[in-house]
Amino acid sequence: MNICVVGTGYVGFVTSAVFADLGHHVWSVDKDERKIESLRRGRITIYEPGISELVAHNLADGRLIFSTDLAQGVQSAELIFIAVGTPANDDGSSDLSAVEEVARGIAEHLDRYKVVVIKSTVPVGTTEAVKRLIADYQPGSIPFDMVSNPEFLREGSAVQDTRCPDRIVIGTQDRAAAARLLEVYAPLERPMIVTDVTSAELIKHASNAFLAAKISFINAIADLCEAVGADVCEVAKGMALDPRIGTGFLEAGLGFGGACFPKDTASLIHTAELAGCDFTLLKSVLEVNRRRVGRVMEKLRKVLNPLDGKAVAILGLAFKPNTDDVRHAKSIELIEKLYEAGAHVRAYDPVAAENARRLLPSSIRFCASPYEAAAGASALVLATEWDEFRSLNFERLRTVMARPLIVDGRNIYEPGWMGRFGFEYYSIGRNPVLL
Ligand code: UDX
Repeated sequence: MNICVVGTGYVGFVTSAVFADLGHHVWSVDKDERKIESLRRGRITIYEPGISELVAHNLADGRLIFSTDLAQGVQSAELIFIAVGTPANDDGSSDLSAVEEVARGIAEHLDRYKVVVIKSTVPVGTTEAVKRLIADYQPGSIPFDMVSNPEFLREGSAVQDTRCPDRIVIGTQDRAAAARLLEVYAPLERPMIVTDVTSAELIKHASNAFLAAKISFINAIADLCEAVGADVCEVAKGMALDPRIGTGFLEAGLGFGGACFPKDTASLIHTAELAGCDFTLLKSVLEVNRRRVGRVMEKLRKVLNPLDGKAVAILGLAFKPNTDDVRHAKSIELIEKLYEAGAHVRAYDPVAAENARRLLPSSIRFCASPYEAAAGASALVLATEWDEFRSLNFERLRTVMARPLIVDGRNIYEPGWMGRFGFEYYSIGRNPVLL
């Protein structure tokens, strides 16, 4: 099939590459000329396991074409996916200007029947609104159908998630349009649900908000564990054995970040408000998450008192492991707070340092290894659970630090072990190890 995917962000880029790999001819279109130029040369702008090989191979075979030419993309394709960004406005609503701009472009170049698919994460009602926009803007009266087909890929495992999604959601009133999407996704052999447009749109936001709620719930339990002397990892383990609760997203820590959970939760609250529904539960989910970094700051203040002038090492800058994305990363918020408190921050991340550098004050020192970051530090805070931090040389770490103090913001270490290695150890929702 001939497919056009508009937008080369995480979703659009990975989707284009996977569709091409399934044997389709894909026009991957973006208005950013520099980005398209570097993609044409095979230069990948994101860190994502498996993507480079996939793109190189499909570029070489001519199935994947990067282009700034929306007209050509639209006219060459039977299926057009809109996968541009939908950032948050200040009031939590979604900024749909990029989606609308693409919709007007599609309308302008529509030359025969097409199926237009919204893959961007959008609030309820957007697919209908885009349908009206295309109908209003197109010069003729060429028929087209709209589908909502939300994407559930996670950064860090985007290729694998796109090849093997838990479910494929197809929201449309039109059987022929649904059939086209079913045909595209059939080779993946994954569960598919065909539903109405509004439900499809809501499935995406409801899923992300629910996962965010799970994280805030376990974080609230972690605070309670600290107050009563319980261990949140044991509590989560015991809870997860109930299949109705499930195992995932019960890891207490610094809270959720990234481009999706904070934005999608806020957007769902906004949608509920517009619909006259009170979603107090979700407001609390964001509020619990907002306080996470403050809790770690309290611990640091209490132990290091004062923070002013102390060197603090931060391990991990990406909002989660296996990505270089630092958008809404808790590490960034933590470093800003430490900086305001007068601490000297020395940070290390295997891949996200460059992206973090653009957001942080110039006096933050970026180091080449965890040991360089820890040298002379009065505390080390683990902010992102990269695998390489699980097997550090703790003897070496202890000897380079000014004070052997670890604050584990992701609960990756065993408290007993940290004690045996001679560290003072604080984590989330577990008893500290004091020297
Ligand atoms: C999320 C959804 O998982 C994905 O389906 C959707 O398409 C986009 O949003 P992503 O933002 O890539 O994906 O990251 P995810 O792995 O879901 O983690 C989000 C945040 O939650 C991270 O900051 C992570 O550290 C945090 N998290 C996750 C926890 O704090 N505890 C957990 O138990 C799980």
